[in-house]
Amino acid sequence: MKILATRRYPGPAFEELGDVEILPLSSLERPRPDVEGLVVANEALPLDLLPGLRVVANFGVGYDRIDVAACAERGVVVTHTPGVLDAATADLTLALILAARRRVVEGDRLVRSGGWTGSWADSGLAEELTGATLGVVGLGRIGSAVARRARGFDLRVLYTRRRQVDTDLGKFRELDELLAESDVVTIHVPLTPETDGMLDARRLALLRDGACLVNTARGEIVVEAALVAELVSGRIRAGLDVFVREPEVPRELLGLANVVLTPHLGSATRQAREAMTRLVADNLLAVERGEPPLTPVPS
Ligand code: 8YV
Repeated sequence: MKILATRRYPGPAFEELGDVEILPLSSLERPRPDVEGLVVANEALPLDLLPGLRVVANFGVGYDRIDVAACAERGVVVTHTPGVLDAATADLTLALILAARRRVVEGDRLVRSGGWTGSWADSGLAEELTGATLGVVGLGRIGSAVARRARGFDLRVLYTRRRQVDTDLGKFRELDELLAESDVVTIHVPLTPETDGMLDARRLALLRDGACLVNTARGEIVVEAALVAELVSGRIRAGLDVFVREPEVPRELLGLANVVLTPHLGSATRQAREAMTRLVADNLLAVERGEPPLTPVPS
């Protein structure tokens, strides 16, 4: 099966794909009827240029830029990589919660700039994380992994979920209630038409003064201009790994001490990325053998 991959994906499993051509989609200028498999990282697909396509293997769990309906119409299978990046993303979420809440990056900057003259934090003490209330927006695979880690910090966990479930990971709340009741809110829903702009100015205003918002999901879930306004006002804190126009980050955030910024690092561990490539390869190889893919996107 002729496979086109938009980059060399990390890990040894990539080598198991026999006939692979590496080509960014922006360089695909003429129809390529020979291509049957495509590996992308949540990228919009030029389906008209790929009339022989059988399978799209997305390197990532989120596939919001892939037109799954258009693929289904053409009989093209779409797969993604759920599960293998839960731990990495949950770990980063905790890192951002701790960094934002305990002013870790601010402290690092002070030390590096030579501005540390003694007990620098006396005038702006952080709020403790232990014992705080954590609101998990979306108690799916990654949200649950975050909630499990929260136990180690004695956090009281609230969660939203499409359907209420019987779980000891936390207590169900409607979104507005969760926002008003939490000290730290972390987002773990996929980007869909329902979640696009879900945290708008009205909802952000529900956050408590001094609350911390962490987003390792998708930038578009929060109305970015409204978030920037709240952060510029200094009323809340944030740890942000995702943005609406990556790799662009709103300029207003760059000088703010109350926000920690990371460059979409959620799944960026060797273990997670290699396992993602393993799953991408296994999905492609299954389709090549005429078997059902391991992790198709839900239809
Ligand atoms: C990136 C992610 O897709 O899985 C997801 O949804 O956002 C990440 O894992 C991956 O890093 C490739 O860009």
